[in-house]
Amino acid sequence: MGDGLKILAIGGSPRRDGNSNSLLRLAVEAAEERGAIARCFYPSELDIAGCLACQGCRRGPDSVCVQHDDMQELHAAIKECDALVLASPVYFYALSSWAKVVLDRCYALITPGPEETGGEEWPRRVPPGKEFYLITTQAEESPFYGFQILSTVVYGFTWTGITLRGHLIATGLDGPHDWEEREDLIEAARELIVVG
Ligand SMILES: Cc1cc2nc3c(=O)[nH]c(=O)nc-3n(C[C@H](O)[C@H](O)[C@H](O)COP(=O)(O)O)c2cc1C
Repeated sequence: MGDGLKILAIGGSPRRDGNSNSLLRLAVEAAEERGAIARCFYPSELDIAGCLACQGCRRGPDSVCVQHDDMQELHAAIKECDALVLASPVYFYALSSWAKVVLDRCYALITPGPEETGGEEWPRRVPPGKEFYLITTQAEESPFYGFQILSTVVYGFTWTGITLRGHLIATGLDGPHDWEEREDLIEAARELIVVG
């Protein structure tokens, strides 16, 4: 990869061309026009199991997740990227299961602190300086639920040292093509990612 901002885009809707994934691609394409380089993953098309809470990833400084599925590639992509963009539809006032499973498996990216390692300083599992963006889409008009999800994801990623850079909480979207009529969201998506 070159010097451009390296983006990792995760489309958390099973509707490949629905609202969430389409707004995500708009955001990413606009960033690519400004020099970024992007990779896109769609968890609903991958093999990613839930976290087993086995603590295998916390046994030693170099321990990794014991599960051998597509999350291994995503773990590597997260470590490599500069900015992560997660898009998810709101499902029952929460992230979609497709997005949540990725977040849960990021448990393996948390660096255990000295209180867990007997005072040892283990190397950071995620290099510092990474940022993330969140896009949520929902049918209801109140943005409250999107912001509720935003706060859980902010706290979740804080454990891995990845900090919030921007968000797009899109409301009033139900049918998969509703986003096409929403110039406000199209513009907001295209401006979402800060490059350079
Ligand atoms: C299982 C399921 C649960 C949903 N729950 C909510 C909800 O709690 N609140 C809401 O506003 N919309 C809810 N919706 C509607 C979706 O959030 C909305 O249609 C969204 O734009 C779909 O995004 P997509 O096109 O990216 O799949 C739900 C849809 C499904 C399929």
